[in-house]
Amino acid sequence: MKIKFTNFSREFLDLEKAFSKKLYDIGSKGQYVLGAELKIFENNIQKFLNVKHALGVGNWTEGAVMVFKAMNYNYGDEIITVSNSFIATCGAIVYSGLKPKLVDVGNDMNIDTHLLKKIISKKTKAIMPVHLSGIPSDLKTLKEICQKNKLHLIEDAAHSFGAKYKNKFIGTIGDVGLFSLHPRKNFHVLGDGGLIVTNNSKLYKKLLLIRNHGLKSRDKALIWGTNSRLDNLQAGFGNIMLNKIDKWNKTHLDIAKVYSDHLKKYLVIPKFDLKISKPTFHQYIVRTKYRNELRKFLKQNNIETAIHYPIPIHRQEAFKKNFGRVQLPNTEKYAKEILSLPISPYLTNKEIKYIVKKIKEFFENKH
Ligand SMILES: Cc1ncc(COP(=O)(O)O)c(C=O)c1O
Repeated sequence: MKIKFTNFSREFLDLEKAFSKKLYDIGSKGQYVLGAELKIFENNIQKFLNVKHALGVGNWTEGAVMVFKAMNYNYGDEIITVSNSFIATCGAIVYSGLKPKLVDVGNDMNIDTHLLKKIISKKTKAIMPVHLSGIPSDLKTLKEICQKNKLHLIEDAAHSFGAKYKNKFIGTIGDVGLFSLHPRKNFHVLGDGGLIVTNNSKLYKKLLLIRNHGLKSRDKALIWGTNSRLDNLQAGFGNIMLNKIDKWNKTHLDIAKVYSDHLKKYLVIPKFDLKISKPTFHQYIVRTKYRNELRKFLKQNNIETAIHYPIPIHRQEAFKKNFGRVQLPNTEKYAKEILSLPISPYLTNKEIKYIVKKIKEFFENKH
């Protein structure tokens, strides 16, 4: 048995007919950019997430840059976020001429809200938590801190489509939520894509202009913008995926429960409280001081794993060159211990059992 960490082809082959039909429908209408299908997708997203506005964009990163611009932040303004994330979380901040202020995470791997008071300055404009692997951050405390300090709450919800915090969808609780639709994400299209969601109509109207060169109509530009439109075809694929997402997220959660039940004796398992939140388990991230050995053992047994993320952002050359040394003890410790196990709606029961069996075997042979 060989278990890939990501198996895109299983999903494609399952949905091939629907994808082909969509390609035919859109192609035969000749609507590729800013067409009806994108509008349908955005309306479907609004309904699904119960949010006023949804905007399909080129990818998460461009969406974030557009949001910072729409918020009128100035050069050198600060955004607080975490370091255990994909480089884009910070990259979008720096690319926008803003300064990332990185804080440590707690043992749930999400932003440690206790550390925020010390780091907020006069230049701080927003807090951007990453709901890592689709496990919601402490949004109640984050909201209170943002309100008290007049900061925006921008949710990096790249891993979290369909996750809930106290019965509200992740991404809709802050001022704005940003989703990535990259194929590796739990909710995705068949290429790059992103979504911005907000209940703020003024912000939405501005983002709508920014997305398409500031154009109000074909030839009239009101402000400077960019080109970051989600393709009509990708929106069409997104509409197909949206019908699947509840089922897929449920399967992720079921697999996570199986892993947790069987592996809690051997590994530090993800922390989540179903009474407060419903995670997506975009990844299933465990921790162990034997991480490298375990990973090697699983590879020898044909099980692919991944690390999210092997080099925290504050330890990246790009970051150090601009912002020097920052110390984040938990993030650094966890970077050596974290391991993402395969998780996907297309993983078979046989494969899940095999993964569990091999991890048990590894630890039992150690003792
Ligand atoms: C937490 C997080 N934020 C942002 C991004 C960037 O998303 P995109 O590739 O759509 O720009 C990713 C993508 O991997 C991510 O994992």
